[in-house]
Amino acid sequence: MPGKDEKLYIVMIGLPARGKSTLALRMQETFKRNQIPTRIFNNGNLRRQYRVADTSFADFYRPDNVEAVELRRRFALINMQRAKAYLADKGQVAILDATNVSRERRALIESELKDHPILYIECLNDDQDILHLSILEKVKGPEFAHFSPHDAVNEFLKRIEYYEMIYSALSPERNYIRMDSLHNRILEEKVVDAIPLYSRIRDFLVTDVVKNLFLIRHTETFYNVQDRIGGDPSLTPRGVAQAKALGRFFMNRRISYIFTSKKIRTIQTAERIAEAQKDCTIIPLCEFNEIDGGVCEGMTYQEIQEQMPSVYSAREADKYSYIYPGGEGYASMKQRIEVGIKKAFYLNRHADNIMIIGHRAVNRMILAHFLYRRDEDVPYIYVPQDKFYHIAATQDKKLFELRKYE
Ligand code: F6P
Repeated sequence: MPGKDEKLYIVMIGLPARGKSTLALRMQETFKRNQIPTRIFNNGNLRRQYRVADTSFADFYRPDNVEAVELRRRFALINMQRAKAYLADKGQVAILDATNVSRERRALIESELKDHPILYIECLNDDQDILHLSILEKVKGPEFAHFSPHDAVNEFLKRIEYYEMIYSALSPERNYIRMDSLHNRILEEKVVDAIPLYSRIRDFLVTDVVKNLFLIRHTETFYNVQDRIGGDPSLTPRGVAQAKALGRFFMNRRISYIFTSKKIRTIQTAERIAEAQKDCTIIPLCEFNEIDGGVCEGMTYQEIQEQMPSVYSAREADKYSYIYPGGEGYASMKQRIEVGIKKAFYLNRHADNIMIIGHRAVNRMILAHFLYRRDEDVPYIYVPQDKFYHIAATQDKKLFELRKYE
């Protein structure tokens, strides 16, 4: 049983749909795997369970709705009592999962929970695309079933606005980590007390968790056999056979989503794999489109060397930073690839296996995200068509393997 000074309250902070609950769940999973008894106390679950009022309406979150404010305060208090009882018993970490955005609420927590240190973890994320996707996901819940999708989104946005009105920045609190929850980056930290498990928590927060990522390059195309770059070619018969072999290889693994680019070659590869699955959705994302070769699109490397020698030699000299005239370069693709990775991971966050079918340059950038290669080495990462990368990255496991599928 954990000792008294090994126990800890973690209090989540953040506007609705900022990734608090996902982070709390992953943290609980990781701690439990390491024999650290952890439990989440979620105010939203309590509110939905008691159904004292129809809490799907934004009005319930209006800061001047006296009755509702009192109800929400009561739910928060119930969870504080439960968390306290849990730590007094066998628990080691109690995670209070709620918005907790006002100083007033945090003062209440501090006055109720004096027996063990409190670490606040604030989740920030203002990426509008991800926020939109998160809200669409939230309003699929049964509590919004009586609204039209459009009205449900509006109620949720209004709810966020009400929380924004009472948001107070962390400052007098003794221990906190402010997180960019989309990029798993720590923005600010302050630790006054001795916080049990601190380095473990900190490391967990900055780890990109992916249980199984299958990173595949589209199979052979008519351009590949001619050594032409870019364009939107189809698979050759050999490419189709390779894609079918991939389908057979993954037949017994559950793949719910396959993320591809918007190019025919990645979608055709995905279709063969999806055919061998029971229920699999292909999601084409433009963020995973191949590097734009600009004026060189459709040319062979030899043609570029002969017809545009200055382009060829400038790219050879600094392949990572070089930008094709009218097109892109590795460095300039970085941001959109990062967005693609985040979107794919977010949409797939409840599943264990994630599959991305990309292109040579795109897959190099995705690999670089996990491999921490020097920039100048990224454009040379080996990305064959007869093998795929299997990546697993959690706090306890880092796996990288290049595997054959035939
Ligand atoms: O040849 C296939 C391809 O995906 C091209 O479309 C793309 O321009 C190229 O590979 C990227 O590789 P590199 O940066 O080595 O030219």
